[in-house]
Amino acid sequence: MDNRKVGMWLYSNSGGEAIGQKIITKLKDRDIDVINNVNLRHTVVENSHIVHNGVNVDELDLFFSYNAGEQTQYQVYLYKILNELVPMINSYEAFAITEDKFYTSLLLNKAGIRTADFRLCHRDDTQELRKTIQTWEKMVYKPTDGWGGVGLTKIEDESTLDMLLPFLNQMDLRYFYVERFVKYDNSDFRVDIVDGQFVGCYGRKAGNGDWRTNITSGGSVFLREPNDEIIDIAIRASKACKTDIAGVDIIYDLERQEYVVLEVNGIPAFATPAQEKMGLTFNDKKIDLIVDLIDRKSKK
Ligand SMILES: Nc1ncnc2c1ncn2[C@@H]1O[C@H](COP(=O)(O)OP(=O)(O)O)[C@@H](O)[C@H]1O
Ligand SMILES: [Mg+2]
Repeated sequence: MDNRKVGMWLYSNSGGEAIGQKIITKLKDRDIDVINNVNLRHTVVENSHIVHNGVNVDELDLFFSYNAGEQTQYQVYLYKILNELVPMINSYEAFAITEDKFYTSLLLNKAGIRTADFRLCHRDDTQELRKTIQTWEKMVYKPTDGWGGVGLTKIEDESTLDMLLPFLNQMDLRYFYVERFVKYDNSDFRVDIVDGQFVGCYGRKAGNGDWRTNITSGGSVFLREPNDEIIDIAIRASKACKTDIAGVDIIYDLERQEYVVLEVNGIPAFATPAQEKMGLTFNDKKIDLIVDLIDRKSKK
């Protein structure tokens, strides 16, 4: 019997290249060939085939898409179509959920998982925003498709909202998504889940004077053990968002005294070589679980 063939598109910076090679070697041991660097950006669709570099991507046994940095509209469009033709990790459905903070928060709430309180309203419904800031004290405006803490704006009172609205209106948004600002110690838990199983956890804390824990916003990573409740929340959050692979961001609400899921990331980075030296040792476990997953989902 011919080997199974799997397409992979994995980020190559920050140690990603070496991770990819390990995955390829381990899959080879299971008679699964990997076609690496299948960037949908470079595919052309010809009648019934989605072609990348002479390979019919639509005839692969699975496609593993793991590259957050370089996603274009064309790729996302093809992701959706390809998902109808071959098994994908993550599925397009999970990808679409985790790329959208509002969609994520809604599904988490429906699954009984605590998030920051949130509101979504039409761009002209500034009355709703006004009502919201009056009840919440402080809120955070978030682009629903953002990352790295970019574009998040803390709104402290009604006059800040009045100042901000003209700018938001200029941005040609269709809707506003806001969250209640959660009082917390400016640190979070990032919990990695693969195939419903706990892989690893670390903490991030915000840089001086910032309330966002993102590394790109000046935050830093530290070793942090999760408790059973945190692991349980992360597993349930991953399931609610239908992800095979997820990085779940959790903070502790000091006022309500409960854990809150801030977001579910569908392409959580592996530990970088520097982070591995620091003691984040979950990469091998994550690779093994991903290899198992690819093996299972690519079975004909
Ligand atoms: N509702 C909130 N209350 C308090 N802090 C928040 C809230 N939402 C986000 N943050 C802070 O901002 C950071 C970025 O928010 P997040 O929703 O994860 O967006 P991004 O996709 O940009 O990482 C979080 O890691 C957290 O530190
Ligand atoms: Mg985040």
